[in-house]
Amino acid sequence: GAPVEVDISKVEPGMLLTAEWRGKPVWIVNRTKEMLDLLGKHDDKLVDPNSEQPQQPPYCKNATRSIKPEFLVAVGICTHLGCSPTYRKEVGAADLGADWPGGFLCPCHGSRFDLAARVFKNVPAPINLLIPPHQYLSETKLLIG
Ligand code: FES
Repeated sequence: GAPVEVDISKVEPGMLLTAEWRGKPVWIVNRTKEMLDLLGKHDDKLVDPNSEQPQQPPYCKNATRSIKPEFLVAVGICTHLGCSPTYRKEVGAADLGADWPGGFLCPCHGSRFDLAARVFKNVPAPINLLIPPHQYLSETKLLIG
């Protein structure tokens, strides 16, 4: 499949935009400073907090799993059986628990991922969501693929 160019200029802080690449949904989330600050606080609850597993390009093997800290770019397909998780950015959401730091919830079997698309322990999904190959062509243009 051809690379896909995405205009990210309208992705406001906190917002998720879904692009399509090779028939798959790719999320672009503009994470706020508050969201980023929460990322380092629950590493002990994650399967692979340091992204040791190989499901991201080397340039995203860092604390935010991204090129630009604010922008998460991830394939929106659950690594369990392929459902599409729901964006749940509300910190402490009533149905997810007071310690919920914001992230993604899979509606199929309840897998949970944080705002760096890292999987929490004790859910069916075995690994973090995939980060697709991507690069920034300019401040407002992202190329996926
Ligand atoms: Fe997501 Fe099973 S497909 S938890």
